[in-house]
Amino acid sequence: MKDIRKDLKEVVSSLKGHLIYQRDVLLAEGVTLKDSYEFRVLSSELKPKNQNSNKEAENSKPKIQNSKLLEELRAEIGDCQRCKLSKGRTNLVFGVGNPDARIVFVGEGPGKDEDLQGEPFVGRAGQLLTDIITKGMKMRREDVYICNVVKCRPPENRNPEPDEIDACEGFLIKQLEVIKPEIVVALGTFAAKTLLKTDLPISKLRGGFHDYKGIKVMPTFHPSYLLRNPEKKKDTWEDIKMVIARLG
Ligand code: URA
Ligand code: URA
Repeated sequence: MKDIRKDLKEVVSSLKGHLIYQRDVLLAEGVTLKDSYEFRVLSSELKPKNQNSNKEAENSKPKIQNSKLLEELRAEIGDCQRCKLSKGRTNLVFGVGNPDARIVFVGEGPGKDEDLQGEPFVGRAGQLLTDIITKGMKMRREDVYICNVVKCRPPENRNPEPDEIDACEGFLIKQLEVIKPEIVVALGTFAAKTLLKTDLPISKLRGGFHDYKGIKVMPTFHPSYLLRNPEKKKDTWEDIKMVIARLG
């Protein structure tokens, strides 16, 4: 009896994760459809805003593709048991946002709220990130893409361990390969370390762009760290202003 209940709980939890994921895919396809070549032709807005941007050339292709590729990647991850974090998760938190985003925010790993909802950055730190995006950058959360280094919640929000990062980072790398953003904002030590393969502290890395396979990476303080150290918010704002300037 107990086993059946446990099984049922797992089925419901994975179904919920799947439904959240499908919703994200639909939202994402809605966004891409609006930006598509055909839509721009029909609405006579074909002329690219930024003639020199590679991204713009990419964008003139019909764009169902990135969302499909992300969908396939999510399917490849499946009901992941590749590391010990799988034991404690409610939902795997894959990522959310525009599959054709020019900017991707990478955090560390899901916290409690994210684990329960299956969506990254929806708790207190998430609200601060949302404020940075909407109030600071004047963009919508749906315009950017948001994900984490590890896709499952570490117990008691401890740091992800090296074996867990090893098991999961390939999926982050593939997400970035699909989305091909111009800029990645690495939120906190783990995102910066994972992408830049450096042991320098975030305080040394922030304040300028680094390179990851041709993508500009701006490391900055993690929103959770900013909640504990609000006097550092002005530094992150400096970083974000450089990002805004680069996006044009
Ligand atoms: N902190 C993170 O690093 N990621 C989340 O998704 C939420 C909080
Ligand atoms: N330490 C962290 O882990 N993250 C920060 O953003 C700053 C210090």
